[in-house]
Amino acid sequence: MARHLITSALPYINGIKHLGNMVGSMLPADVYARYLRDRGHEVLYICATDEHGTPAELAAKEAGLPVDIFCAQAHDAQKAIYDGFELSFDHFGRSSSAQNRDITQRFARTLNENGFIEERAVRQVYSLDDERFLPDRYIIGTCPHCGYDKARGDQCENCTRVLDPTDLIEPRSAISGSSRLEVRETKHLFLLQSKLAGEVEAWIDASSGDWPNLASSIARKWLTEGLQDRSITRDLEWGVPVPADTWPELAAEGKVFYVWFDAPIEYIGSTKEWSDAAAEGESRDWRSWWYAADGGEAPVRYTQFMAKDNVPFHTVMFPATQLGTREPWKKVDYVKAFNWLNYYGGKFSTSQRRGIFTDAALEILPADYWRYFLMANAPESDDTSFTWELFTSSVNKDLADTLGNFVNRVLSFSRKRFGDAVPEGGTPGAAEAKLGEQIATLLGEYEGHMETLQFRKAAQALRALWSAGNSYLEEKAPWMEIKTSPEGAALTLRTAMNLIHLYAVISEPFIPASARAMRAAFALPGDDAPWVDAEQARALTTVPAGTAFTVPPVLFAKITDDDLAAYTERFGGDPDA
Ligand code: MF3
Ligand code: ZN
Repeated sequence: MARHLITSALPYINGIKHLGNMVGSMLPADVYARYLRDRGHEVLYICATDEHGTPAELAAKEAGLPVDIFCAQAHDAQKAIYDGFELSFDHFGRSSSAQNRDITQRFARTLNENGFIEERAVRQVYSLDDERFLPDRYIIGTCPHCGYDKARGDQCENCTRVLDPTDLIEPRSAISGSSRLEVRETKHLFLLQSKLAGEVEAWIDASSGDWPNLASSIARKWLTEGLQDRSITRDLEWGVPVPADTWPELAAEGKVFYVWFDAPIEYIGSTKEWSDAAAEGESRDWRSWWYAADGGEAPVRYTQFMAKDNVPFHTVMFPATQLGTREPWKKVDYVKAFNWLNYYGGKFSTSQRRGIFTDAALEILPADYWRYFLMANAPESDDTSFTWELFTSSVNKDLADTLGNFVNRVLSFSRKRFGDAVPEGGTPGAAEAKLGEQIATLLGEYEGHMETLQFRKAAQALRALWSAGNSYLEEKAPWMEIKTSPEGAALTLRTAMNLIHLYAVISEPFIPASARAMRAAFALPGDDAPWVDAEQARALTTVPAGTAFTVPPVLFAKITDDDLAAYTERFGGDPDA
């Protein structure tokens, strides 16, 4: 048993997320967290809304709300959806919390004491029409690296390079669209990342050996491009204020920290929020997850989940910030990065409302349908595409036919022939021995893929486990067997019911609601075993004869041609069809 800290990239507060966001960070983190808990590990899964910066200010402006009210509402709206997806956060915090403000300010003071922060005069874009400085996303223009013409001032969405607003070609204001911009001088704090480059490189060398290629290659590329000193403050209303005790002048000018400075620190801030929310008598020690009392690293395995555009911030910049404090903050052990999920080969787009958003997804189908499909098609080694056709065939084949139908067929048939308790039947024979071997082997594969966070392969192994039950049932054909040997048919059904119970247990990380329904079919007192060992998988006798059972309602409804037509009509289908 180990202690696992898990974080998924903090979703921006502005706007409901689409399925691409979900599959690139929160959902796989949840599947992993559930798996590890099921295996008996101590898990802390932390996430939060990323509330500062220009996206929040722009969205609040559009909604006609004060930014704090906007954020409070938007946080609750996102949280409700994540509850609907059954994301099992231990805490879903807010980067605008008092905890994060305090820790962020403390980080800045410590970095300053250690000589890693410097105040510098900078030339910054000022908009004459908007009468203000334009940080980051307030400026749009053409990327100097790849030519993408809607690059934002902080990062090019197309080539993922991090930018400085003054790098943009043909810049314009995102507020007014005005190009009457000029450059003026103002003071900002700079994090002297160049001084930390050697250490960050050494840390990456030592840590990235087993990261997926996507994460380590982006981290490396980033290192060789050089760790430059970067401005970590902005001229915004909304953010963590620069502490007046250390920088009185900048504080008086109302400067706040750059959102990418305080957002990763919120992983720690949210852990403290979790700790502060402990009930009477419950002990939650946030520090023990982030540093060891003896000055070493906390004895925790820390796994982060994120889409590829987030990798530079998590593998280079945040570690540099942590290293610069000269305090033993826990640094990430494993970075699970994802490519993009496309919608029919094109981008999901929040601004163009293209693709499927998480709220709409839950309106039309239960979470398990999405959870399974998204994980089985997660963009791990390449970008993948969502299409309604693929989704339909995957739901209908894997969930409805292979799993759901098996469950219903076995339970209803047994009930009809043998009543509402699991029948005894004869002694297991060769077919059962073969099945047991097969299940034990596939379960081992499934576990192996989960341990190494290979979710598509894990989903494949899970599907193979479900299929093995179907093959066994076809081979034994209890509906024929019953005519010649009721004892034989009873054995087949008892074995199949044990498979259903096993499926309930091991499918939990992917499809928690359906797993509960399958498990609840059996009246097994004290049935809370979180996992199955190889011995149990081979024997298939956890549910003994005589156990009362019920037939649950159909687990997965098939998506019909009419449904498919309605979905593609509502969301837009293949643009080339
Ligand atoms: N909000 C960012 C995004 O969606 C992710 C922030 S992750 C954290 O790209 F490191 F800041 F926490
Ligand atoms: Zn670019």
